[in-house]
Amino acid sequence: MVDASSLLKVRDITTAYDKTQVLFGVDLDVRAESLTCLMGHNGAGKTSLMNTIMGIMPATGGDVQFEDEIITGLSPSARVKRGLAYVPQGREGFPHLTVMENLEVVLDATSHREKSAIDDALDLFPRLVPILERPSGFLSGGQKQQLAIARALITRPKLMVLDEPTEGIQPSIILEIEKAITEINQSRGMSILLVEQYVEFAVRLADNYIVMEAGEVTKRGQTADLDAEAARGLLAV
Ligand SMILES: Nc1ncnc2c1ncn2[C@@H]1O[C@H](COP(=O)(O)OP(=O)(O)O)[C@@H](O)[C@H]1O
Ligand SMILES: [Mg+2]
Repeated sequence: MVDASSLLKVRDITTAYDKTQVLFGVDLDVRAESLTCLMGHNGAGKTSLMNTIMGIMPATGGDVQFEDEIITGLSPSARVKRGLAYVPQGREGFPHLTVMENLEVVLDATSHREKSAIDDALDLFPRLVPILERPSGFLSGGQKQQLAIARALITRPKLMVLDEPTEGIQPSIILEIEKAITEINQSRGMSILLVEQYVEFAVRLADNYIVMEAGEVTKRGQTADLDAEAARGLLAV
């Protein structure tokens, strides 16, 4: 199970809300330049796992390793400095700031401060360009999600973690988001850990998949080994 070429290694992670344990010994690997998809029904523990990987929820046991460094005890901002970026579920950014200001706030917090990072992010989301001066609170759900991904890209991460980027978003925008995630992974070589309940989308994009149920990993494998029927069966109970 231990894989030396993995960028991210999650080992035997447990976590809890107060005394209620929600993760029970999760192992997960994201190889460099791969796209790994995490699937599972509502309440399976996907967001709790992402929050533990990012340091937003403390692990009660186990370890998170990134590029051969144990990062389990690091703050979220220290993890971002190491090269992790997070697009949380349902995230809004700063609704009173314009689209451009939302991007600039992130740029100001990076160590590289390269303005070209904003152009590189906008290249993927041309729909945001005509609305750069609009307060982000007025954006549609799809535009907000595109802005959230653009914000994460500004840090020039090695690994981007996305939690259900297609949730509640209209199908035409889902295709645009899918295209952008593919581009980020394939042309820019960035590793991606994608939480997704939309199985067709997950299987089209991902190299590897993991399925969680009730705080445990119950299935894992390579999407190339799945036929359409097996893919549909992944989330069947
Ligand atoms: N803030 C919270 N306080 C207490 N329990 C929570 C909280 N957030 C989630 N949970 C519980 O933790 C479990 C896992 O939730 P979550 O990680 O959000 O799952 P998923 O992202 O797969 O839908 C669920 O049983 C959920 O009810
Ligand atoms: Mg969730």
